[in-house]
Amino acid sequence: MALLDKTFYLETFGCQMNAHDSEKVIGTLLREGYRQVETEVDAALILYNTCSIRDKAEQKVFNRLNDYKALHKQGKRFAVLGCVAQQEGEKIFERAPYVSLVAGSASYRKLPEMLVQLEAGNNRIAGLDDRQTDQTFETEFTARGNKHRGYITIIEGCDKFCAYCVVPYTRGKERSRTSDSVLTEARRMADAGYTDIQLLGQNVNSYRDSSGKMSFAELLVAVGHVAGIRRVRFTTSHPRDFTRDIVDAIDAVPTLCDHVHLPVQSGSSRVLQRMQREYTLEWYLERIAWIQAARRPISLTTDIIVGFPGETEEDFEQTLSLLAQVGYDAVFAFKYSARPNTPAISMEDSIPEEVKSRRLQALLEFQREIQRTLYSRHIGEIVEVMVEGNNPARGQVSGRSSQNKVVNFTVDSPIYPATGTYMLVRITQSFPNSLLGEAVILGQPSAISAGEEICVV
Ligand code: SAH
Ligand code: SF4
Ligand code: F3S
Repeated sequence: MALLDKTFYLETFGCQMNAHDSEKVIGTLLREGYRQVETEVDAALILYNTCSIRDKAEQKVFNRLNDYKALHKQGKRFAVLGCVAQQEGEKIFERAPYVSLVAGSASYRKLPEMLVQLEAGNNRIAGLDDRQTDQTFETEFTARGNKHRGYITIIEGCDKFCAYCVVPYTRGKERSRTSDSVLTEARRMADAGYTDIQLLGQNVNSYRDSSGKMSFAELLVAVGHVAGIRRVRFTTSHPRDFTRDIVDAIDAVPTLCDHVHLPVQSGSSRVLQRMQREYTLEWYLERIAWIQAARRPISLTTDIIVGFPGETEEDFEQTLSLLAQVGYDAVFAFKYSARPNTPAISMEDSIPEEVKSRRLQALLEFQREIQRTLYSRHIGEIVEVMVEGNNPARGQVSGRSSQNKVVNFTVDSPIYPATGTYMLVRITQSFPNSLLGEAVILGQPSAISAGEEICVV
């Protein structure tokens, strides 16, 4: 049965790399003459770009498929892309027989051929490349969703094999783009009006220029110097590959944002060893010390897993102590979820669900108080904010600081600033997850009264 019309709906689950992959998939579909629609019911082709990092994420996709499978009877076709596709492969056709296409992230460059097969009525199309040999998916058809801030993937895959994690299996071996290719894309984006670039990789700082020209820190500096680019972020950094020259680069180049996301996972070296993280708490803290010794304050955020098999109350307490010691501006905390193919799935001493939930709750409450204190230190500062949206009902504009903090602010004008505008904002109030302030009118330094701390970032 051929598709009646070339309309598609795509929903994305998971991390920023998946979000960016979706932009590439959308770009490819548009080029192939498809049109994007807002809902499943309006689409002839329904695509889910999936995540498998925790069981809940995987289940979400199967629930979604189940919810909409009746649409198959109307001739609609389903495609499962991304990490669940790569992990489950052709088994998906058995579990959800109304799915016609299953493709992992390394196969998207073959999407045009797969679409031809789909249009010809093939109902068992699989793109499950051997990711050992795949080259990074190039991005000539990327349809970026935001006009000012854009992602560039610089490294794909992961070779670390942490005991709990599916990514090395779903995304394959680590492979980096050349620095020339990254810089060409950055320049193209700047020419198109982008001012904010986020470099992406599962372990972005494991980047190894495949042409051998630049280290990761040198690439950061080079992207930071692209004319027109005002902000460069990078995520996610792995502690094992975090080198001091990254901090030097942030110190030297003002366009490199003063924020490092450095997932620790646990504050206990014993747990870190069981997780196969390849570093100890001391190693991690040494990197934190480098970051905290930078000339301009660098905001730190992290990821934590609670309830990894064998985690004792004492191990958990060590994680809380680490949070207190470092002072993170945000913590993304998750209950350990046993995943297929990973060594941790067969580990003994699994932690009961209610203990995991209790620890997660305790950690989040503990961290909230830390953030309450940390965010309050910004009161009185003037920070540069990139406008992301307006909330006329509240009379507020919202955006983010270079440190990636959410800043809501009022403007003394009936006209709201456009998305993508950079403004200076004086912070007047703080919350555990956001700051509140008022726009400072440019060219009127008198708006800043003497004695106030000025931190223009
Ligand atoms: N490459 C990054 C993290 C990528 S996955 C790093 O190594 O730091 C994003 C986050 O999901 C991880 O940092 C971890 O905290 C969480 N995560 C990964 N696998 C998980 C699992 N099996 N259960 C719970 N959380 C998990
Ligand atoms: Fe997963 Fe570890 Fe690789 Fe991060 S470093 S993606 S947690 S295996
Ligand atoms: Fe999920 Fe795959 Fe990203 S498992 S977190 S979408 S790499």
